[in-house]
Amino acid sequence: MTLEAVLEGIPMPVLLIGDDSRIRLANSAASEMFNRDLGGASVVSLVRQAPVLAVIDASLTAAQAGQARFLLSGLSGENTYICRANPLPDGGAMLSFEDQTQQEDSEIMRRDFVANISHELRTPLTSLIGFIETLRGPARGDVDAHDRFLTIMDREAQRMNRMVSDLLSLSRVEVDERIRPRDQVDLAAVLRSVVATLEGKLSDASVTVSADALRDSFPILGDRDQLTQLFLNLIENAIKYGGTGKTIHIGVENLDRDLALRQPAVRVDIRDEGEGIDAIHLPRLTERFYRVDDHRSRDQGGTGLGLAIAKHIVSRHRGRLKITSEQGIGSCFSVFFPRAQ
Ligand SMILES: Nc1ncnc2c1ncn2[C@@H]1O[C@H](COP(=O)(O)OP(=O)(O)O)[C@@H](O)[C@H]1O
Ligand SMILES: [Mg+2]
Repeated sequence: MTLEAVLEGIPMPVLLIGDDSRIRLANSAASEMFNRDLGGASVVSLVRQAPVLAVIDASLTAAQAGQARFLLSGLSGENTYICRANPLPDGGAMLSFEDQTQQEDSEIMRRDFVANISHELRTPLTSLIGFIETLRGPARGDVDAHDRFLTIMDREAQRMNRMVSDLLSLSRVEVDERIRPRDQVDLAAVLRSVVATLEGKLSDASVTVSADALRDSFPILGDRDQLTQLFLNLIENAIKYGGTGKTIHIGVENLDRDLALRQPAVRVDIRDEGEGIDAIHLPRLTERFYRVDDHRSRDQGGTGLGLAIAKHIVSRHRGRLKITSEQGIGSCFSVFFPRAQ
């Protein structure tokens, strides 16, 4: 049994160093991590971070085991490792590096998400509490004020309600993202029913829909409820941000081959004639709670979660979402689905 083979069998980067701090053996995971040939190098030149050097020193001079955080910049940014040093019985030490980057990233994302939710819910809640106080105090007996305040309170409560529903949808969509939808669904039929559902909002905003393509049928394997939710949000956004009196263009077409999906696809375009979205916002638009204009989205009763939900629904359908926009001309949200074979 050779030591080299044993080290190779360990998936995490491992180094054996002598009591002169020089590297005696390194597995290929370690050479990959440091991106160089390690034989004979001094570990001090490799690591150079005081906490890690202290732990290594303690293992070599006092035969003490220990661990420290180790940061390494690579091509894809900075990675965080836990470096463990274990003294060996005949002198020297074994160092191992456990990659913590993903864990730390997802921990940060979780914390941010919780902080965002709390903030989003607190705003309407603060306003509700304020109005309740006013109704009990200064506005007691003022019937006009009652009506006005109750209208606002209703709006804020509805917004919290929508926020909670959207959060629930988001977590549901995330849960079944890996389960591929199996039903034959006609995209044109889904879009027709979404447009019919939005009739009221369309006429309130004097927005017309142009959708000649919906006369044909475009079958895909899908989840009808989720597809409805996806297009409801995209068309609602086009109404909200497209502007009063404008037109929303809905296009659907079969593609013999989509380059990114690498198979026959159906493309759905929801295009508006709004102000457009600055290019710097486009890559972040599908992040949870990301809005180009906070006030505008809130005034319209938006939760900032619609596109995050949309992205998950599209990826559950093994499709892709492409957003293009031209300032002053409008935005186009295109969804590509693999075509049902
Ligand atoms: N058609 C559109 N035109 C311009 N901006 C848009 C459009 N659709 C979405 N956006 C921007 O993307 C943001 C996120 O959209 P979404 O997740 O649906 O949240 P919400 O509609 O609740 O604000 C919106 O706040 C808006 O700034
Ligand atoms: Mg929306």
